[in-house]
Amino acid sequence: MHRPPPYGMAGDGRPPPYPYGGGEYYPQERRRGGNVCVRCICCCYCVLFFIVLIIAAIFLYFFTVYDPKAPIYKFEALDVKEFGYNDSNINADLIITLRADNPNKAIGFIYEEANTFNLTYSGSTICSGKFPSFHHGQKNVTMLQIELKGKNPFAKGLYESLQVSESHGKVPLTILAKVPFRFVLKDSKLRELSILANVTMSVHDMKLGKKTEIDQGKIDYHFEK
Ligand SMILES: *[C@@H]1O[C@H](CO)[C@@H](O)[C@H](O)[C@H]1NC(C)=O
Ligand SMILES: *[C@@H]1O[C@H](CO)[C@@H](O)[C@H](O)[C@H]1NC(C)=O
Ligand SMILES: *[C@@H]1O[C@H](CO)[C@@H](O)[C@H](O)[C@H]1NC(C)=O
Ligand SMILES: *[C@@H]1O[C@H](CO)[C@@H](O)[C@H](O)[C@H]1NC(C)=O
Repeated sequence: MHRPPPYGMAGDGRPPPYPYGGGEYYPQERRRGGNVCVRCICCCYCVLFFIVLIIAAIFLYFFTVYDPKAPIYKFEALDVKEFGYNDSNINADLIITLRADNPNKAIGFIYEEANTFNLTYSGSTICSGKFPSFHHGQKNVTMLQIELKGKNPFAKGLYESLQVSESHGKVPLTILAKVPFRFVLKDSKLRELSILANVTMSVHDMKLGKKTEIDQGKIDYHFEK
């Protein structure tokens, strides 16, 4: 009777050779060394797992308790007190109305006064002003009036291009601002950061003594330490 060899035995009845060539393995020793290693890796993974768990818990706590939202800024109108230019200079005194909305229930902002609030046309600064220093509380909407003034040299070629923009009733402007601020969580103030913003907008006309509406485009911003 011809039975198949028992499991694990080669056909001739000898135990099968160790995989990967040969009897140079010492199973006892190998297992002991492996145990130390496995325990060590296990330990590392456990520690890592707990660190990740703690970080996740902190984030979850932060997001559920503070529910952070970005404040919403809308440049609404421009009052033209003075505006004139020729092919070498531009002279302006404008009051810009900014609606600042902080939708947060638990986060406030403290803005420091910053005088780098520039209104530019085609990369050329028209006028500059100061972002006011104020404490923007939770769930608060504040209207800000920012006066931008300046007599500046006007880059070559912009005279014609600004006239064309004005005749089309669409003057593209950019606000470049750097505003230092702090987060306020409950009663504790966090360290100071700066927001650098680049706001593109367009106005219909820049007639003296007129209040003109602003069509706000996109706001690009990033933070700086
Ligand atoms: C442009 O206007 C400035 C004052 O705003 C004046 O000093 C300058 O002479 C003017 N330039 C020309 C070429 O008219
Ligand atoms: C919003 O904040 C401003 C500035 O702190 C304050 O003057 C105003 O009263 C606040 N408005 C409301 C509705 O709380
Ligand atoms: C605003 O203009 C001033 C003077 O030209 C410049 O020093 C400053 O860096 C400008 N700020 C921004 C945010 O571009
Ligand atoms: C501001 O944004 C506009 C449009 O995204 C871009 O063309 C311009 O180069 C930016 N200016 C600065 C100073 O980053």
